[in-house]
Amino acid sequence: MSTGKKVDPKDPIWRAASVNDIDAVTRLAEIIHPTLPERPDVFAEKLALFASGCYVLVRHEEVIGYGLSHPWNLNSIPPLDSFLKGIPGDADCLYVHDVAVLPEVRGYGSAERYVDLMVECACKIDVDFLGLVSVYSTQRLWARYGFEVANGSELDMKLRSYGPTAKYMIRNLKSP
Ligand SMILES: CC(C)(COP(=O)(O)OP(=O)(O)OC[C@H]1O[C@@H](n2cnc3c(N)ncnc32)[C@H](O)[C@@H]1OP(=O)(O)O)[C@@H](O)C(=O)NCCC(=O)NCCS
Repeated sequence: MSTGKKVDPKDPIWRAASVNDIDAVTRLAEIIHPTLPERPDVFAEKLALFASGCYVLVRHEEVIGYGLSHPWNLNSIPPLDSFLKGIPGDADCLYVHDVAVLPEVRGYGSAERYVDLMVECACKIDVDFLGLVSVYSTQRLWARYGFEVANGSELDMKLRSYGPTAKYMIRNLKSP
């Protein structure tokens, strides 16, 4: 799904993340998510388990954002700051763990382009859904990119560690 924004050559670009980016991702997470802290090793594990879902946003070679995703089971939410310990053999969705962009470079369509990358990735690993937990009232933003809120009491309990506005959202890639 694309909202048709033009891509300017000066816009920030997504590139594949590497272990050399872990420090930068940790620093950005501390700035952008001060109330949802995660250990650097938890980021590093995601990169080790599923590098195809891990990107950093760069402008003039500076890392100004990141996106982390991994295959997972639909309607299941990994707790924050915890190790995945592996990718489920029966994964049926690509779970977008986090997309974070520094405030001064928001509004360039970076979240939209990361979602497009993850749609491609989901197709490659043959899963039909993207899932994520929307925080800080970003529900409207994700709805624009094709995600819908999924409700359920079990989900609601698991969402507690993500803050009061958190919602589990799904994008069905088979929907027109
Ligand atoms: C969510 C986030 C990654 C979006 O990054 P971005 O590069 O600005 O995203 P895009 O440029 O693709 O989309 C921006 C659009 O979303 C809107 N938007 C951004 N944050 C929003 C929010 N919290 N609530 C509602 N709309 C929001 C902007 O107004 C903009 O709309 P416009 O194009 O009409 O001006 C960024 O705002 C961010 O890092 N937020 C803090 C971390 C966070 O909440 N991450 C999501 C975790 S699920």
